[in-house]
Amino acid sequence: HFVHCRSVLSKRLVLAGGLTGLGFETVKFIAANGGGCIAILSRKIPSKEKQEEMKDLQLKYEGSKIVSVQCDITLTSDVEEAFQIIVKLFEGCPIKGVFQSAVVLHDGRLEVLKFADFQRVLSPKVAGTLNLHRATRGQQLDYFVCYSSVTSFLGNSTQANYAARKY
Ligand SMILES: NC(=O)c1ccc[n+]([C@@H]2O[C@H](COP(=O)([O-])OP(=O)(O)OC[C@H]3O[C@@H](n4cnc5c(N)ncnc54)[C@H](OP(=O)(O)O)[C@@H]3O)[C@@H](O)[C@H]2O)c1
Repeated sequence: HFVHCRSVLSKRLVLAGGLTGLGFETVKFIAANGGGCIAILSRKIPSKEKQEEMKDLQLKYEGSKIVSVQCDITLTSDVEEAFQIIVKLFEGCPIKGVFQSAVVLHDGRLEVLKFADFQRVLSPKVAGTLNLHRATRGQQLDYFVCYSSVTSFLGNSTQANYAARKY
């Protein structure tokens, strides 16, 4: 699917949860396919190793700009601040796309999961996605991609909270 999206991906975009896992794989794919400016949102700041990887990608793929902005996407004020920073970093270039791959896991059998265990897992997807939507509502986005999982329709015995947060 990505291969057919090359022209669409060549824009300024925000990638929530992009420092690790599938999010960072997406960063690499976009950089390799003429991605331009990529802003990664993450609660942590990137490790030295990750900073090196980001630098290497920018050197390898001319025209790529990859920045990381510390932000908890479940917090409206964090997201608002992050987008103000991104607007300055991408000066004059409107944001054209969002990838939402942030995830928190807290597995357990249904009878031991507490309400808080659902909240912790649901909030990056529900509150996080709503905050990203609100922050980009005024932009003319080409795409807003939310990562899902086969667990949402197949189910998994210890992942009721994970399955519930999926689209
Ligand atoms: N990996 C798989 O096999 C697989 C399979 C099916 C579906 N998926 C889906 O693909 C997506 C990515 O999965 P993954 O396994 O690649 O995840 P991952 O490596 O665990 O990465 C998740 C990222 O989300 C960030 N994050 C969590 N809460 C956040 C918050 N409140 N604000 C900002 N960032 C936050 C984390 O960074 P910080 O801790 O720094 O915030 C982390 O970098 C998820 O939606 C997952 O359900 C994955």
